[in-house]
Amino acid sequence: IAEAEKFRPSFHFTPEENWMNDPNGMFYLDGTYHLYFQYYPEDNVWGPMHWGHATSQDMITWKEEKIALKPDEKGYIFSGSAVVDKENTSGFGEEGKTPVVAMYTYHDPKGEKEGRKDYQTQAIAYSTDKGFNWTKFKDNPVIKNEGIKDFRDPKVTRDTINDQWLMVLATVDRTFFYSSQDLKEWKKISEFGQSTGAHNGVWECPDFFPMKVEETGETKWVLIQSLNPGGYNGGSGTQYFVGDFDGTTFTPEKNMQNLEEKHSFWLDFGRDNYAGVTWSNIPTEDGRTLFIGWMSNWLYAQEVPTQKWRSTMTLARELKLQKLDGVYRILSEPVKELDAYRTEVHKMSKNEPAKTYTYSAKTGDLMNKEISFSLNLKDLEKVDFHLSNSVQDTLKFGLNKTDKQFYVNRKKSGLTDFSEKFIQKVSTAPRISNSDTLKVHFILDKTSIEIFYDNGTTVVSEIFFPNEPYTSFGIRSKSDLHIKDLKVNEITK
Ligand code: FRU
Repeated sequence: IAEAEKFRPSFHFTPEENWMNDPNGMFYLDGTYHLYFQYYPEDNVWGPMHWGHATSQDMITWKEEKIALKPDEKGYIFSGSAVVDKENTSGFGEEGKTPVVAMYTYHDPKGEKEGRKDYQTQAIAYSTDKGFNWTKFKDNPVIKNEGIKDFRDPKVTRDTINDQWLMVLATVDRTFFYSSQDLKEWKKISEFGQSTGAHNGVWECPDFFPMKVEETGETKWVLIQSLNPGGYNGGSGTQYFVGDFDGTTFTPEKNMQNLEEKHSFWLDFGRDNYAGVTWSNIPTEDGRTLFIGWMSNWLYAQEVPTQKWRSTMTLARELKLQKLDGVYRILSEPVKELDAYRTEVHKMSKNEPAKTYTYSAKTGDLMNKEISFSLNLKDLEKVDFHLSNSVQDTLKFGLNKTDKQFYVNRKKSGLTDFSEKFIQKVSTAPRISNSDTLKVHFILDKTSIEIFYDNGTTVVSEIFFPNEPYTSFGIRSKSDLHIKDLKVNEITK
């Protein structure tokens, strides 16, 4: 492959050219999943933001479409969301066509330069051709700014329980809640968050939606709240809160009302999953909560060694809500649509106990592979995993059982000199499960690993840039390893 394409993943979304950050405006309609994204079509670093656009039938194979929203005299088009207005509450539907309504933040660079505080406002646009062509509302902005510098990223949800449109907005250190009947007139109804959760950064890109608890069937409301910096491993990160909503106010569970900075409620503990939100308009008979995130981190996103384009999305994931040891937790797994792309290339039901185990790719490499297995932890203190190639690039990860911490060490993973921050530290993640069996499941796509430990109870996503593709996967410990059900799948489109 041409040098310029060397680091392009094969089954993750990347724009053909130039800069991308947050996923925006995701909705599903008539068999198509839409994904918009923060996009700067003129350069491979952040600039005046547009909404790029891509479509997919299965959230794995994406087709890039023409740009959906371009900046104008009111400002850049920052992050936001989109909903399908089935009952035409907005009145934007002409001739019986169902309108799709997007809500985004206008970021006015002139106001910012002048040192004003009110340069971020909320606006709407609509599409009557299912998301391809958009018209900006003539009376924008629909929410003005009364002097809050960080005032952005509106995420709209249809609240069928209380029969209203709900919108959450990130404002510095808290989330504002708004309600509307027509998507045009918005009323602020409550606030949440200044006294709980991580705050060493600015809150951005919230999302708020009901979820059913898997076992009991009870409904709980979930607030996703990204922040930057101040993520679990520094830089960008996405935390969540679970609780109840009475139509006006969100009340988190008792154990989430005074969370400290370093709490354990993060959708992903890795350094590279930010600003993720969920798809709207998923049919009730499907009922899944589907999520995608930006697989990078503001610490180094603009310096990573891809030139033609910059940034990748995570795999689309299904979120699940469970009660584990009395505590609500969000688990995530890749969407089941990935099944159609999997081919089993290796299987081992049980190993001959030994201190090391190695799997080497027989042909090709490990750059589009999925590996899963379970490991008996009873006699282990620490277990280390590594991916490596013939030029000694090595990505290390694993579990320190004694302190219940997973880690990822990418110091020698390949190219790292583009940013000091990329390798400043070894990242960690708490092991939440108490099981004696560790379930490991990870997916590799050239420059990323997405690890779903214990059925997605602790998730870690990180990127890396090996000089040559990794070809070998190893497991190591000081005591004998007891490995079960090891499977290697190739993922091909
Ligand atoms: C998050 C973010 C958003 C903002 C957008 C601008 O990564 O900072 O808060 O809307 O990126 O591109």
